[in-house]
Amino acid sequence: RPTDEFSTLLLKWNKEKNTRDMPWKGEKDPYRIWLSEIILQQTRVEQGLAYYERFIAKFPTIKDLAAAPDTTVFKLWEGLGYYSRCRNLLVTARYISSDLNGVFPDTYDDIRALKGIGPYTASAISSFAYNLPHAVVDGNVFRVLSRIFGILTPIDSTEGKKYFTELADELLDKKNPGLYNQAIMDFGAVVCKPALPLCPTCVYNKDCYAYLEHKVNELPVKEKK
Ligand code: ADE
Repeated sequence: RPTDEFSTLLLKWNKEKNTRDMPWKGEKDPYRIWLSEIILQQTRVEQGLAYYERFIAKFPTIKDLAAAPDTTVFKLWEGLGYYSRCRNLLVTARYISSDLNGVFPDTYDDIRALKGIGPYTASAISSFAYNLPHAVVDGNVFRVLSRIFGILTPIDSTEGKKYFTELADELLDKKNPGLYNQAIMDFGAVVCKPALPLCPTCVYNKDCYAYLEHKVNELPVKEKK
């Protein structure tokens, strides 16, 4: 099936060509993964890096974060914006610290139920920390899948969200969900970029719909502007 081919090529690219290095890559501590994903929800990697490092240095465990005064944590968050993320970070750290004895939940549903965590972040944490088979669907994934498979359904429509989510779950490498999820995000960030994607050297260019049809700049499709 073309879907098996997609995942095989992605993991091959990841192993042979992906040189992207970030401190949370390969991380297994769910606290660190959670922290990185909350920071990256509305912040670019380049900006988020220094914040992540400062948080980890100051609060090495979730119990350290939970025990910190609100003012200390908000001060460390300053400049990142979207302060509800910081509020939810504290609520969740204190809940896990007090009610769960500091042990991060280890199922998709329990992770999804935490404050500040939606389907995307729950998939990221559960796949990276526990290798659970949940595909991430973010802007990178919409772009990569729409271009390669030629999906013209708007990504911001109800139908589109359902379609991309189902395709992403089918494509996911069920043996290595964490590795696969990080690989597709990295591929979207460094090869299948929004502007000036690296099509001439891309591993998919022999059968990428967008490349072959000269529609790279028209995909993904959005209905609302
Ligand atoms: N954005 C959100 N999560 C990310 C991750 N794990 N790596 C790179 N960018 C991301």
